[in-house]
Amino acid sequence: MTARTERARFDPAPSGLRGTLRVPPDKSISHRAALLAAMSAEPVCVRNYLDAADTRSTLAAVEALGALVERRPHELVIRGGGLRNVPELDRPIDVGNAGTLMRLLPGWLAAQPGRSWTLDGDASIRRRPIDRIAEPLGRMGARIEAREGRFPPFAIHGAALEGIEYVLPVASAQVKSCVLIAGMTTAAGTTVVEPAPSRDHTERMLARAGAPIERDGVRVTVRQTDELELESIDVPGDLSSAAFMVAAAVLVPGSRIVLEDVNVNWTRTGFLRIAERMGAIVLGELEDPGTFAPVEPVTELDVAHGPLRGTTVEAEEVPLAIDELPLVALLGCFAEGETVVRGAQELRVKESDRIATVVDGLNALGGDLEATEDGFVVRGTGGLRGGRISSHGDHRLAMLGAVAGLASREGVEVDGMDAAAVSYPSFAADLATLLAR
Ligand code: S3P
Repeated sequence: MTARTERARFDPAPSGLRGTLRVPPDKSISHRAALLAAMSAEPVCVRNYLDAADTRSTLAAVEALGALVERRPHELVIRGGGLRNVPELDRPIDVGNAGTLMRLLPGWLAAQPGRSWTLDGDASIRRRPIDRIAEPLGRMGARIEAREGRFPPFAIHGAALEGIEYVLPVASAQVKSCVLIAGMTTAAGTTVVEPAPSRDHTERMLARAGAPIERDGVRVTVRQTDELELESIDVPGDLSSAAFMVAAAVLVPGSRIVLEDVNVNWTRTGFLRIAERMGAIVLGELEDPGTFAPVEPVTELDVAHGPLRGTTVEAEEVPLAIDELPLVALLGCFAEGETVVRGAQELRVKESDRIATVVDGLNALGGDLEATEDGFVVRGTGGLRGGRISSHGDHRLAMLGAVAGLASREGVEVDGMDAAAVSYPSFAADLATLLAR
């Protein structure tokens, strides 16, 4: 585990954020690109792969499992070994801090009959449950042995899998993706039913790779395939990273920024719809909700400062904005009236317990927030005083503290700012370019 100790100060930005920025490549799509490329028989060229701690863990994992990764300027060429015949290893696979790697990779490994692997990661990953994938993979015929029955490290014993229809108990794109990847090897095919739509990058990429996959409302069915064929993948900008800059521009008076090449797959843009409802001015061509296309849509977001009012986020909107809910809490501190988030108990099992860390963190900066079992209530006070916040080793908490600092009256000191490198290593530098005038 890496110690997250760096302390950084973010002072009020008197003249706002101004300028144009290209945000880092999408983390979710990068993980999937590396994994599906490693499952392909032919070489796959991945352009604009995210270079961050989480996605480096995924490259290291697929290399350990036999893929050859050639690093060229601005692109990777990944030569995998096909869907079957993944070699066993004499050491655990280290997933680092990457929950997506930890939950997607087992879908592939579980489908390798007679072979076993162990997965482990950092202190944060060891607190994150894997029973949610162990249960469906177990029903399909694989065996998972986890610490205390549900935590890493865990062993995966592969098998010839049987198709299932799996009704997800929680709307989780990671669990859905795991079951669909495993389902590609099942003779009868496999169906996943979601309680509400969650990000669908796996489905889109599988469709592009020629896998027989269909979506019908909240049901996704994948049928057996022997081979994935993906010539190239262009990874678009990450909306979850862009969201920090969007929030900063909305909150800091005098701001006007343009974010280029941002992925606006509708299963990711819940935060933009919530922010707009709160009165934020964010222009861009968003994908229509309900669309299922193999492509990943991109747009330019044009964001300006403006006043905000409170809103309510209900359960079905939660998966579409899951990683941005800490920013909804921050916007709520500056809004008029109350902002309520419900049905978001999933936040408790992210890189930190994001209900507790967000509520306690923003309250320490002068906010008026109350944690509930499945979300939070924010009473808008028109601003934040500032102070000190800990990232708790959680990249999104670190960046939340930084944005809070820019919009605060007295500035914010973030303990553990280096956690940002998990998804957005150039965060502080990018922010500096928008503040430099
Ligand atoms: C992710 C899905 C979400 C999200 C995570 C990335 C993915 O998790 O919070 O940061 O890439 O599939 P869940 O699917 O578990 O909600």
